[in-house]
Amino acid sequence: MKLCQALAALSIVCFAGLGCIQAVTLEVREGNSTCIKTELSATFAITYNTSSSTRTAQITLPNSTTVDTGSSSCGADGSPWLVGVFGSGHALGLSFSTNGNLYNVANLTLQYNLSDTSVFPGANSSDVVTVVSASVGISAVINTTYRCLSPVTVEVGGASVTFSDMRLEAYMPGNDLNPAESICASDQTTTTAPPTTASTTTTAPVPTTPPGTPEQGSYSLKNSNGTDCLLAQMGLQLNVTYLSKSPNKTVHELLNLTPNLTSSSGSCGASSATLVLTQERITTLSFIFTLNSTSNKYHLSGITLLANWSDMAVPFSANNTNLNYLRSTLGRSYMCNAEQTLAVVPTFSLNTFRLHVQPFGVTTDQFATAEECQMDQDQMLIPIIVGAALAGLVLIVLIAYLIGRKRSHAGYQTI
Ligand SMILES: *[C@@H]1O[C@H](CO)[C@@H](O)[C@H](O)[C@H]1NC(C)=O
Ligand SMILES: *[C@@H]1O[C@H](CO)[C@@H](O)[C@H](O)[C@H]1NC(C)=O
Ligand SMILES: *[C@@H]1O[C@H](CO)[C@@H](O)[C@H](O)[C@H]1NC(C)=O
Ligand SMILES: *[C@@H]1O[C@H](CO)[C@@H](O)[C@H](O)[C@H]1NC(C)=O
Ligand SMILES: *[C@@H]1O[C@H](CO)[C@@H](O)[C@H](O)[C@H]1NC(C)=O
Ligand SMILES: *[C@@H]1O[C@H](CO)[C@@H](O)[C@H](O)[C@H]1NC(C)=O
Ligand SMILES: *[C@@H]1O[C@H](CO)[C@@H](O)[C@H](O)[C@H]1NC(C)=O
Ligand SMILES: *[C@@H]1O[C@H](CO)[C@@H](O)[C@H](O)[C@H]1NC(C)=O
Ligand SMILES: *[C@@H]1O[C@H](CO)[C@@H](O)[C@H](O)[C@H]1NC(C)=O
Ligand SMILES: *[C@@H]1O[C@H](CO)[C@@H](O)[C@H](O)[C@H]1NC(C)=O
Ligand SMILES: *[C@@H]1O[C@H](CO)[C@@H](O)[C@H](O)[C@H]1NC(C)=O
Ligand SMILES: *[C@@H]1O[C@H](CO)[C@@H](O)[C@H](O)[C@H]1NC(C)=O
Repeated sequence: MKLCQALAALSIVCFAGLGCIQAVTLEVREGNSTCIKTELSATFAITYNTSSSTRTAQITLPNSTTVDTGSSSCGADGSPWLVGVFGSGHALGLSFSTNGNLYNVANLTLQYNLSDTSVFPGANSSDVVTVVSASVGISAVINTTYRCLSPVTVEVGGASVTFSDMRLEAYMPGNDLNPAESICASDQTTTTAPPTTASTTTTAPVPTTPPGTPEQGSYSLKNSNGTDCLLAQMGLQLNVTYLSKSPNKTVHELLNLTPNLTSSSGSCGASSATLVLTQERITTLSFIFTLNSTSNKYHLSGITLLANWSDMAVPFSANNTNLNYLRSTLGRSYMCNAEQTLAVVPTFSLNTFRLHVQPFGVTTDQFATAEECQMDQDQMLIPIIVGAALAGLVLIVLIAYLIGRKRSHAGYQTI
């Protein structure tokens, strides 16, 4: 109801049956071509001071919001910028950047006008306040639409912005949102995500259903001269235990890395190689491989995880540089098709599926002969054992038949 009053104050019709959330479409064009398009609902919770207390104003981004063509731009410098203005002197800005494969919201700007007494009654200041957040966590594969129907909250200064029902694309090749979508993590873990009306408290996280087997991703690193120096193919599932925003609640979460939302970086060295996988800027997983040049054996010696998921009370960080996994020999690759669990710290383990890596001695852009993990060798033994058992059974039946035949033959003769 408070929300509806705020809306009424902004002279927007709010139908009880339809709820107060409205979808707003904004577009930045240059000439005849569109470079940014967004369809979203947004609500703002802005804390401000009156002469005697601190209050929170709730505002919904109205559908009368317009693009400020003067400030918005398609960004000749590669950083397109969308500025939507609404009410008296309020604005929401989204600035984008890209690395060629992924694009993301580089920063979010919120401007609000405290002299607008219909929204900020009793404010003790008449300033126009501008706050910026560089940690927005919206990123997508280029030439796809970012989709997040679930509510996502971004903290910016003393305010928070909650987006829902969001579809957006920047660096657009055409004038319409691409039908191919990059789906945000919270839409993937919740089965249904109906648009919810904003509330003053953060909603409790939906219990997540376990994800299936992760998709196998291919990652590689190149030398300065452009040749591959590290090759990896693997499906990865993170098993993280963390403290959620709901007070005193511990959450166990399984998260599959989605290969086409994951970018790789790192470095190859003579005795140490590091592969860093980043998914949507909020999950960073690093692998450190070490080569012993005396024994010519290498292994996975370290795993680091940094995660800043929306439900976490504090960002999660785990680091163990004393591991001894994925052991193999220089000049060979390491392969394990079976699921392996790599324990890192008590609150974080990594499940690997269909794994094939070669961190050292890559001479062509293909894997060298593989050394397989024990589990794969055991699994290969099963068909051999079953085959041998079947062959044995056939042999026994045959012998029994021959003996039987000989006996009955002999019996026939005596009669
Ligand atoms: C935009 O489209 C119109 C008609 O479709 C065309 O005449 C005009 O030249 C175009 N402008 C640019 C900048 O491409
Ligand atoms: C409100 O006033 C308090 C105390 O004067 C100050 O610390 C705080 O920053 C103010 N908050 C805002 C949003 O201006
Ligand atoms: C705003 O939303 C209302 C109700 O949903 C609709 O009737 C109206 O046409 C919309 N206005 C604009 C400018 O889209
Ligand atoms: C802020 O709001 C006041 C009152 O509504 C208005 O007079 C003023 O022009 C607004 N400032 C800006 C920068 O729009
Ligand atoms: C927002 O990001 C863009 C692109 O990275 C940058 O050019 C701009 O300076 C940033 N703005 C602020 C206020 O940080
Ligand atoms: C995106 O699409 C445009 C036009 O279809 C194409 O020229 C461009 O190469 C694509 N970019 C990527 C990274 O696939
Ligand atoms: C990601 O990969 C899957 C399977 O390869 C594909 O179906 C999906 O369209 C891809 N998504 C994007 C955003 O490229
Ligand atoms: C590329 O550089 C690596 C070492 O930096 C070297 O071993 C390799 O031979 C070079 N490959 C080519 C094609 O130059
Ligand atoms: C995740 O970790 C917890 C505790 O560390 C463990 O009980 C659970 O079996 C693990 N789940 C999977 C699927 O690995
Ligand atoms: C959380 O746990 C601590 C210590 O166990 C307790 O003092 C505190 O009241 C709890 N908070 C809530 C909100 O349950
Ligand atoms: C390398 O391997 C040799 C022989 O197995 C061993 O003696 C040595 O301790 C290893 N070095 C390191 C740094 O682990
Ligand atoms: C992990 O721990 C090692 C050794 O303590 C340290 O050198 C490294 O910087 C740490 N990495 C991160 C990402 O914290």
